[in-house]
Order: sequence, then C-alpha cells, then structure tokens
Amino acid sequence: MAKTVLVTGGAGFIGSHTVLQLLFGGYNAVVVDNLNNSSDIAIRRVKELAGEFGNNLYFQQMDLRDKPALQKLFAERKIDAVIHFAGLKAVGESMKKPLLYYNNNLIGAITLLEVMATHGCKNLVFSSSATVYGWPKEVPCTEEFPVAAINPYGRTKPFIEQICRDLQHSDQEWKIILLRYFNPVGAHPSGYIGEDPRGTPNNLMPYMQQVAVGRRPALTVFGNDYSTKDGTGVRDYIHVVDLAEGHIAALQKLSDPKIGCEVYNLGTGKGASVLEIIAAFEKASGKKIPLVMAGRRPGDGEIVYASTEKAERELNWKAKYNIEDMCRDQWNWANKNPNGYQSPEN
Ligand code: NAD
Ligand code: WQD
Repeated sequence: MAKTVLVTGGAGFIGSHTVLQLLFGGYNAVVVDNLNNSSDIAIRRVKELAGEFGNNLYFQQMDLRDKPALQKLFAERKIDAVIHFAGLKAVGESMKKPLLYYNNNLIGAITLLEVMATHGCKNLVFSSSATVYGWPKEVPCTEEFPVAAINPYGRTKPFIEQICRDLQHSDQEWKIILLRYFNPVGAHPSGYIGEDPRGTPNNLMPYMQQVAVGRRPALTVFGNDYSTKDGTGVRDYIHVVDLAEGHIAALQKLSDPKIGCEVYNLGTGKGASVLEIIAAFEKASGKKIPLVMAGRRPGDGEIVYASTEKAERELNWKAKYNIEDMCRDQWNWANKNPNGYQSPEN
C-alpha cells in the first residue's frame, strides 16, 4: 500500500518541489495550505508535472490553526506521516509583527501535533532552519552548535524543535526528524514551478531574478567589507530539488526503529559569496545585473555554511547540484514566468 503523506505548506516554494518528488516516489500526497504566500497554480502545475502520479495529489485550502478542519481531514484520510512546511518566514516582517509570527508558526505547529496525536499519526519531518545557529563563531556549522536564533522568525524554529523533543520524550512512539535548511534556491529544471514570493522579495536569488526580468531596476549588495574572499557575505546555497530529495530521505529514515527525535543539516557544505552568486547568475542568464553597493543589512552575518556529514552518513543523502545548476534553473523559471505564477501559461 502506498504511504500517504500530509504536506503542510505544500503550495509554497520548498513544499511544491517536495510534493512533486513524493509523487514521483510513489507516495500519495495530501496538501494543506492557506495560500497566504503561494498560489494554487503551483498545485495544478505539480499535478501536471507528475503525469500519471498527479492523481495521487489531493489539495485542500486550509489554515493549519483551524483545528476542526484538520481533525476532519485526518478522520477522512489515512495519513501515515507529515512533512510540516507551513509557516511565515520573512525575518524583517517578524521583527515588526512578532505576535503574527509566534501565533502562526507556534499555534500552527501545536495544533498539527495535537491532531496527529489524536489520530495516532506520530511520524513527522519538520522544516527547521540554519537560522537556529544565528551567526556562528566558526564554520562549518554542525548540528551540535548552540542554538542562537536572533529574530522572532528564527526563534520560532528552536521553539518548535524543543516542543518536538519534549513530545517525543513523553511518548517514544513519535519519530521526528528536524531538518535545518541553509539557503534554498533554484527551481525545478522544467521551469514550471519555482519560488514566487508575495511582495518585495527578501532574499538574494528571488530579488536578483526580478531585476533580471526587468521588474526591479537594480540589486543592492548589502556590505562589501566583511572579512570574506571578496568582502561580501558567504552562505550555503542549496538547490530546492536537492532539498526535496532530502525530505524523501528523511521520510524513509522515520522507519528506522532507532529514530527518536533527530536533527540534520541540509546544505551543500560549501560557501558562496554574494558576488560569486551574481557572477554565476549573469553567466546563466546572459543578463548584466545592475548593482548598487550599500552598507551591511542590519542583523546580517558574515559567513555560514553547513557540515553535511551527519545527513550524508545517516540519511544517505548528499546535494548533487552546484551553483551553476542553481542559477541555470532559477533563470529558466524566471525567463518562462517573469511574473511568477501570474505569468501567461507557456
Ligand atoms: P513559502 O512561504 O513558499 O511556503 C510556506 C507555505 O506555508 C506557504 O505556501 C504559505 O501559504 C503556507 N502557510 C503559512 N502559514 C500557514 C498556515 N497557518 N496554514 C496553512 N498554510 C500556511 O516558504 P518556503 O520557502 O517554502 O519555506 C517552507 C518552510 O521552510 C518554512 O517553514 C520556512 O520557515 C522553512 N525554511 C525556509 C527557508 C528559505 O529560505 N526558503 C530556509 C529555512 C527554512
Ligand atoms: C543572502 C546574502 C545578504 C538580498 C535568510 C534568512 C534565514 C533563512 C534563509 C529561513 C546575504 C545578501 C540579500 C539582497 C544582498 N530563511 N543580499 N542583497 O539572510 O542568509 O538567510 O534566508 O529560515 O533565516 O535570514 O539569505 O538570501 O536574504 O541573503 O546582498 O537584496 O545575500 O546580505 O549576504 P540569508 P538572503
């Protein structure tokens, strides 16, 4: 019998790519999303990309905090495991509206865990983030580094991680994997699904993509006086398809009887600077990106990249794509969908 996986936030950037990989892997996918930062067009496109497997996708627009609706969904569908992506993720907005973030992310997670417990579904993969490390004193970051999140969004992640640990400690039937992603970028190689944030993008790649298609005049480089190879910030960018594969690996790991509540970094283990990413994107797109050099973005750090040893060893997973692949697929998505999911069909 094919396993059924509930994917919360499955219409979003990472969720949509993961749902596609799940379908290709022979799973049934049940997606819930309130479409707060996404479009149901993503769901339709995932269905189409999945071909015959597309029939194994069921979508319901729902806020995760709507407990009666979630209870009903669990009662109607036999859900074997949950991948929990749904959450708000804009760092700057979280500093202006902390209660919005704590309410959405924490109440959402607690509601989900309560409903899962009621229905005896105790297998969970949760989207945590490298943001839990804050700005580490050294790199690569291992999973043992202390938690030092520095903004309300970031703090929702260690809070939820701890709730998961406490829950698993109280009832060993729970199997939980916490995945700490570094900087997810790129898009599905088809160019049919990708990241389409509402409003002004906060992150480097989606902002640069909008400059490349003429939606914004220039990219601001935040700081060129860091002690890095070229003075700009260094991060561990990871292709979203590699990330999606990491979730399939985590899901498989849940059947390991030794798993309790375990945390894994998902990154490439390599750092790239802002200027290196811009150069790779210019090469992939053939577009010159106009730049404005500016001061450091408040709250930004210098250099972060992952130790990937634990995920490689225990999940048998390793990122395959490099920066060139990420930029090629980012551009393919941008070029085919200059206005994201609002672009005319191609
Ligand atoms: P996204 O915004 O594209 O996807 C999140 C989805 O959750 C959206 O479709 C949104 O509509 C939905 N959602 C939010 N609150 C909801 C609620 N209360 N009920 C139902 N649906 C809700 O973001 P993403 O980049 O795909 O991120 C997915 C997860 O990964 C998030 O938890 C995020 O914190 C985490 N993460 C993201 C990054 C990143 O840089 N993209 C890095 C580390 C961790
Ligand atoms: C990358 C680099 C910027 C935009 C954020 C969250 C983190 C995680 C991933 C969810 C930095 C520079 C950026 C721009 C720039 N999300 N930059 N001009 O800050 O590493 O991480 O997303 O968990 O929590 O904080 O990613 O893409 O914003 O920045 O120069 O317009 O690009 O200064 O060096 P970041 P980012």
